[in-house]
Amino acid sequence: MPRARFLGTGFAVPDRVVTNDDLSSRMNTSDEWIRTRTGIQERRWVREGETGAGLAHAASLRALEAATLAPSDLDAIVYATATPDHFAPGNGVFLQRLLGVGTIPSIDIRNQCSGFVYALAAADAFIRCGQFRRVLVVGAEIQSTGMDVTTRGRNTAVIFADGAGAVVLGPSDDDERGILAFDLHGEGVHAEKLWVDSPGSMYHPRVSREQIDAGRHFLEMDGKEVFRHAVVRMPESVRAALAAAGQTTADLTLLVAHQANLRIAELMQKTLGLRDDQIYNNIMWYGNTTAATIPIALDECVRAGRVRPGDLVAFTAFGSGFLWGSAVVRW
Ligand code: COA
Repeated sequence: MPRARFLGTGFAVPDRVVTNDDLSSRMNTSDEWIRTRTGIQERRWVREGETGAGLAHAASLRALEAATLAPSDLDAIVYATATPDHFAPGNGVFLQRLLGVGTIPSIDIRNQCSGFVYALAAADAFIRCGQFRRVLVVGAEIQSTGMDVTTRGRNTAVIFADGAGAVVLGPSDDDERGILAFDLHGEGVHAEKLWVDSPGSMYHPRVSREQIDAGRHFLEMDGKEVFRHAVVRMPESVRAALAAAGQTTADLTLLVAHQANLRIAELMQKTLGLRDDQIYNNIMWYGNTTAATIPIALDECVRAGRVRPGDLVAFTAFGSGFLWGSAVVRW
């Protein structure tokens, strides 16, 4: 069974920059509060008419170009998003349509902040078992349209943002290179600690005027609980994935972690005993783009030469579900 290897990476974000001062003019918050609690300085939000599939398309074209492949070379799409453009169908087919790629299958993953790691695991399994050769894996999100941009929603509106990242995976001809191991977990007892209640098919109708007035269609978060679990689960999972790959934190060239919050990243770095050159953070500029944070950060690292052939790279994520997981890759 061949390992799955990264052939190309790419990302795209909206060109509209939203600063902390912009948010301070719409709700009771401040640049100082946002920077010290989250590390975020600015983020990108879509303009009306921009779509998640559109951002994913731009990111995918960059990843395909880096892989020197054409859309027609793809055998499947795995698309992770918590914020699809429509209730159904999922965004995979909208991306397929934009790419103009015949009848290849697409799989939609709904694993929120951990979506990209889970999407990688699905794509890796398809490649290893020989079902598909070239798989486009996308993490893309439009969170801004689901934010309450009044003081009522300030604990989430300042954090979440929009963007897309994509990678192309294919079978490795070198058994030493490629994805080495995964560590994946979920704990549904915490489902309501970071969730969007409606629209939901348990309701008749799926969203009511009362729910909208109560803000139940906005992302709701128990920030302290998310923080408390994230700083334990991500380091634990990184260690487990490294152990499954027969490696340790000392072997790690780079950890590309989900960009949830800079304070979470700093605590995780400390817990794992990683040097500054072993981690990468870009939450300052993009905020938390949910399933898109890891492929966006990865593409920045690849293009900046921080990931080279033979390097040991790990990904880790934690978020709504709760769901979390890690992957270890020999680049
Ligand atoms: N601006 C100003 N004040 C704010 C604010 C904002 N944007 N958001 C919340 N506050 C206020 C609260 O209302 C609260 O006020 P009160 O004491 O009068 O009730 C106060 O700040 C402290 O709120 P609290 O929630 O206790 O703050 P915190 O120190 O836990 O920080 C988070 C809040 C959201 C930054 C923090 O909990 C966090 O980072 N959690 C993890 C979030 C995350 O990573 N989510 C994504 C996971 S994938």
